Amino acid sequence: MPTKKILIFGDTIGKIGRETVKKILPDLKAEYRPDLIIMNAENLAHGFGITAKTILEMQDAGVDVFTSGNHVWSNEKYSEVFSDPALKNIVLRPYNDQATEGIGFTTMEKNGVKFFIASLSGIVFMEKNNATNFITAADELLEQAQKAGAKISIIDFHAEATSEKAVLGLYLNGKVSAFVGTHTHVPTADERILSKGTAFISDIGMTGAHNQAIGGGWAKILEGMKNNEMGKFEIPESGPVESNAVVIEIDEGTGRAVGIERVRRVLVG
Ligand SMILES: [Fe+2]
Ligand SMILES: [Fe+2]
Repeated sequence: MPTKKILIFGDTIGKIGRETVKKILPDLKAEYRPDLIIMNAENLAHGFGITAKTILEMQDAGVDVFTSGNHVWSNEKYSEVFSDPALKNIVLRPYNDQATEGIGFTTMEKNGVKFFIASLSGIVFMEKNNATNFITAADELLEQAQKAGAKISIIDFHAEATSEKAVLGLYLNGKVSAFVGTHTHVPTADERILSKGTAFISDIGMTGAHNQAIGGGWAKILEGMKNNEMGKFEIPESGPVESNAVVIEIDEGTGRAVGIERVRRVLVG
């Protein structure tokens, strides 16, 4: 049975993250030939939130659909994205966020297959979060995927706690094609295909400044930490970068994943 490949970037942080994607995506496309490219966009606009300009920039680079998380509301220009007729169906807020703007799932037909993509948020240790129960929300998303008649379904679960990610991922085993985690900005090495054909990873990791504090300049953050506070999160404009993503291969007849591979590029030059 033929397969489809999906390339998924985790949190992509600020201009330095966007430039990194533009630099490496042509090579990744040539190497993996993805049918669909997804990116978590919550940190696209200078580290916090989304704007139409930054989304369009990444769409031009080749990204098809954008998921997000707790920081999607951090730049008030999210409104221009969620009200734009061309963007409102490809940029997602977490489905279980109690928000009136934006949508939490979408479908996209590409290369002869209908993909269902959803954004969902965890609850514990999440800053600026307004999420409702994610198990109930996941059940609703499964219904929506079925209603849409999508063979291939992907959920980006934006959460801090690995326990939430493990439990929800196992609950969704065999019910979605891929369940990937984002938010911590740190890639985990636990990628695998679960017993009933769901590709799983706790966290994809970020694309942004390398050797800093999860994408923010570490020295400023240290200043805050000296006072037991969180320091200012400022995005470096230049310097080494890293990009973390996954490539997931899915049987388009059954919707079951047959492969998941971590992709990591570190550019220090
Ligand atoms: Fe993030
Ligand atoms: Fe986040």
